[in-house]
Amino acid sequence: MIETQVLSGKIISQNIYDSLALRITTLKNNTITPSLAVVLVGNNPASAVYVRSKEKIFSHLKLHTKTFQLDQDTTELEILQLLDNLNNDQQYHGILVQLPLPEHIDTQNILCSIDPRKDVDGFHPENVGLLSTGHPRYIPCTPKGIIKVLEYANISLHQKHVVVIGRSNIVGRPISILTSLKKENSNGTTTLCHSGTLDINNFTMHADVVIAAIGQPKSITGDMLKSGTVVIDVGINKVHAGNGKSHKLVGDADWDSIQGIAAAATPVPGGIGPMTIAMLVENTVEAAEYSQQG
Ligand code: GUN
Repeated sequence: MIETQVLSGKIISQNIYDSLALRITTLKNNTITPSLAVVLVGNNPASAVYVRSKEKIFSHLKLHTKTFQLDQDTTELEILQLLDNLNNDQQYHGILVQLPLPEHIDTQNILCSIDPRKDVDGFHPENVGLLSTGHPRYIPCTPKGIIKVLEYANISLHQKHVVVIGRSNIVGRPISILTSLKKENSNGTTTLCHSGTLDINNFTMHADVVIAAIGQPKSITGDMLKSGTVVIDVGINKVHAGNGKSHKLVGDADWDSIQGIAAAATPVPGGIGPMTIAMLVENTVEAAEYSQQG
């Protein structure tokens, strides 16, 4: 039996904040405080929690952020008008529209209307294209956080088989591109599994790294992995706690069952979640630096 190493995003994200301090001070010495506009539409409870955690970190680091909270029945035109104002407002270096948006809104139309130079999520097609061709401007925060965790843990993807489960535009698709780029810390051979994949075990059994982003609690179990696999768990699933508390958060991987089989794994909570926020801070600092270049 091997001992499964815990890859703590909580600890790694602190190192990232420390390493950003000099860049933030340099910007502030030039009278620039990195600033992020967050657009939150409706009352999705999970989105509200994410946005609050982002606000807390920005405030702790003395960076500027403002959340534009809009009603559930806000029209697409109203959001587009707000984005037009934010695109032209020099005060904001970065803009983030929290997803998911209500069903009556065309998400792609909204994402296409963010100035790509302020698109700290990296969801605008221009930024998706730059990433896909190996010349990234803004890398989406969760995939960027995953690469950083692997980098900090000295886990190379070179000549490794990476199995990504889930093809969302937020995580699965961009991480499948990133892991296979011909770059240091990437260069993996990546398989992208999704809801149309027959027998996912067939793929996970031959994986050196499994990246699970499916939103199904405890669905990746030890018997689906070969010994020594690295498990990156992106799932944040609310389940009944059954111990007097109402709910707890669990990942897409079954933590107990992968112990002794996985070489290393990210926990939930305290794994990829804090890394996503750290990468949002890093991308906002990057956006503030771009703004100096005119
Ligand atoms: N919803 C879940 N994750 C994300 C993210 O990384 N960015 C945005 N904008 N919305 C999300």
